[in-house]
Amino acid sequence: MPSSCPNYVRSYVNAARNFLSFLLLACVIFLLASQSAERVQSRPSGAGALDQKNDFNAALKRVNKNSVVPPGLEASLPRFPALKRWAKFERPYGAALSRAALHDAASGAAPGSVAGPGAAQSSVVGPSVNQGGIADSSLGSKVEALLRKMTLDEKVGQLVQYSAGQPTGPGTGRTDYKDMIGKGQIGSLFNISKARDANAFQRIAVEQSRLHVPLLFGLDVIHGFRTEFPIPLGLASTWNPVLVEKAARVAAREASATGIRWTFSPMVDIARDARWGRMAEGAGEDPFLGSAMAAAYVRGYQGSRLDAPDSIAACAKHYVGYGAAEGGRDYNTTEISEPTLRQIYLPPFRSAVNAGTASIMSGFNALNGIPTSANAFTLKQILRKEWGFQGIVDSDWTSVAELIPHGIANDGATAARRAFLAGVDMDMVSSLYHDHLEHLVQTRQVPEAAVDEAVRNVLRVKFALGLFEHPYVDETKEDAAMLRPDYLQIARDAAEQSFVLLKNSAGPGGVPLLPVSKSVGKVALIGPLANDSANMLGCWGALGRAEDVTSFQTALLAYLGNENVLSSKGTGISEGSDQEMGDAIATAQKSDLVILALGENAPEMTGEAASRSKLGLPGRQQELLEKVLATGKPVVLVLFSGRPLTLPWAFENVPAVLAAWFPGLEAGPALVRTLFGESNPSGKLVVSWPRSVGQEPLYYNALNTGRPANQANGDPKFVSRYLDEQNSPQFPFGYGLSYTSFRYGPTEIGGKQLKASALNTGLHGGKDTAFTVTASVTNTGQRSGDEVVQLYIRLQGTRVAQPVRTLKGFERVTLAPGETKNVHFTLSPDAFAIWNDHNQLAVEPARVTVWVSPDSAHGSPTELEIVP
Ligand code: BGC
Repeated sequence: MPSSCPNYVRSYVNAARNFLSFLLLACVIFLLASQSAERVQSRPSGAGALDQKNDFNAALKRVNKNSVVPPGLEASLPRFPALKRWAKFERPYGAALSRAALHDAASGAAPGSVAGPGAAQSSVVGPSVNQGGIADSSLGSKVEALLRKMTLDEKVGQLVQYSAGQPTGPGTGRTDYKDMIGKGQIGSLFNISKARDANAFQRIAVEQSRLHVPLLFGLDVIHGFRTEFPIPLGLASTWNPVLVEKAARVAAREASATGIRWTFSPMVDIARDARWGRMAEGAGEDPFLGSAMAAAYVRGYQGSRLDAPDSIAACAKHYVGYGAAEGGRDYNTTEISEPTLRQIYLPPFRSAVNAGTASIMSGFNALNGIPTSANAFTLKQILRKEWGFQGIVDSDWTSVAELIPHGIANDGATAARRAFLAGVDMDMVSSLYHDHLEHLVQTRQVPEAAVDEAVRNVLRVKFALGLFEHPYVDETKEDAAMLRPDYLQIARDAAEQSFVLLKNSAGPGGVPLLPVSKSVGKVALIGPLANDSANMLGCWGALGRAEDVTSFQTALLAYLGNENVLSSKGTGISEGSDQEMGDAIATAQKSDLVILALGENAPEMTGEAASRSKLGLPGRQQELLEKVLATGKPVVLVLFSGRPLTLPWAFENVPAVLAAWFPGLEAGPALVRTLFGESNPSGKLVVSWPRSVGQEPLYYNALNTGRPANQANGDPKFVSRYLDEQNSPQFPFGYGLSYTSFRYGPTEIGGKQLKASALNTGLHGGKDTAFTVTASVTNTGQRSGDEVVQLYIRLQGTRVAQPVRTLKGFERVTLAPGETKNVHFTLSPDAFAIWNDHNQLAVEPARVTVWVSPDSAHGSPTELEIVP
């Protein structure tokens, strides 16, 4: 209003404005209350639904008209995250109540698990999102009471983390832990692996420090603690989130028995380039599957309540885009456009946050020039403001100090300030928060309120875990908690479901070589990984021990008897002698069937700092393979690797190939049961398998380009292709064979037209337009088998180009021979939404192609249209 306005005009205008605000608020309350009531009525009646309605109405009453969030509001809205987000972040800036908030309120919904049938299978009622999780309303007052008593030095202490065991990166930070713990100057230690050690450190914190704040002990429990499961890439290849959740639960039970209450897992980085060694640690290239897996891990680790003694806090990492390292070289720079960031790289993190993850780890990589450990856009705007995340943001190992070599800080104090102000709460190993944060506050370069906020995040997790009530672990129960028989059974199931049968062509009798008959005669088991235990533990073995592994050879001997198994190493993984090679050829010649166990060295060639520019078999293994094949014996190749390997010769010449990844403790029994047909392979690829390294990065959900190759009757010259290689992968994303066969019926859809306007209303919380897709799948073979049925869509005609296919659903079904099942998918509006050129998530008019198919390259399409 112009300052020249007379005062009486001003007061009239102000009164009118207040009245209008009041009216608006009243309307919103009325609308919300009536919608809520409507929804509550349409849901099964019960105390839960009524509680939610009452909670909601009570909470709404406390939203006053002064754009101030009244104390307690946050606590009263645990079940309505979007509403809470609005109240906390948007309303103070004058934003209208968002449709999502309205939707939350009206449906009383817990924040969404990932849409799609595959993700919805979980039998465990998940998780610690609200009650018992980091958003539990009871935590706020405890946190505030403690915070009020803390000195600045003690506050900073909560933000400091060191490694006090086997280092997992360069250096260890400082080592004068005991002194520092006693002074309340350390918030977390990690890499401790014995209950006795955890208790000893904890005693110092609880008994000697002024405020008795317990330490939080962390460890990389990535694919098992003592019971090792397949590597995450293998776990994802099961396409079975329920199984993954069970594996994570087992890991939590074992780790917590040692005093570990925080795992730096799941790694939810999208990996599109097999040169990047850390592909082994994640769920592959797809955001939809990755989101389902992210939520499954979080549910498994955190259980139904974080304060249960066998629950551990999850940490979704490495936020964000780390997997897009240029050239697949670890730690390298990443450049990711916002639509790609939003549609490909962020969704698994969002899913982990929705599932209640207690923490997030910032990455090593520079993202569009700004290191992710100093990136306020991703850490503050997206993670905190848009998603309402309330847990800890931990840095990666020395990633705060690495802001100096990145070139955005010239000294430790600046690195600490940049990382901290961008939203990194805890400094892992750098020690720069310890060294500089207090001084930065005293010199007003960092507001103390920001330190308070970070400390709140840490204390909230510690309170949620029940650490203040139960800081110690019972040392007498540690051993008995490990390797229980039911855990081994889950490890075996997971290993079997993780195997991907890549090829199975005719053997000598004209029938597929696999499964092998038990009466096959003499089997020669050859190769460096045949009698290997250590590698079966994968790249992050945690407390896994080689002696706990049943190796392939041990299991085969037990199954066929010593007299029927011949063995020879043939070569080491990286090097071998002529004599070993000669011995292997002679052994093969004496046999009726050869099984070759070849591949990578798990700890050295996969995982962190293990990028490769060549993706063939290391050392002399290719030579061994060719020489063994030249004997004319039928050969089954079992590949152990943390990524797909480029082996065009093998795929051309070897009749049967199984991708086994690194299968964990039950490697041997799972492999034997699979090769001899007691278990039918059902794993499917979660990464596109390249023909040659030059194709990388290679992923199915790519854009079409303006000059796509392989156009019927097109000019073969001026198209997007290689002169010396095909564009297509060796095996597509989603691919995997079975010992039986499946026939897919046509893809049927619940209508030929959808309205963008209605979908957008649904997207923002209005009435949903659910869309159904169905296909029949029949087992046409002689064996029972599991098939992972996949749903893909393509959008054409949108303003921002969309991938040639995008996974939108999956379901694992078991079919007896001859049995048919109709597999139904329900797509909600977000399945059709894209990140558009106005930086918004929205549905646009488009032509939509839909496939229900066995992988990303096949299936019969059907079409519909999204009209305005
Ligand atoms: C890795 C993280 C890991 C951390 C702690 C880092 O080098 O990038 O994934 O959690 O070390 O061990």
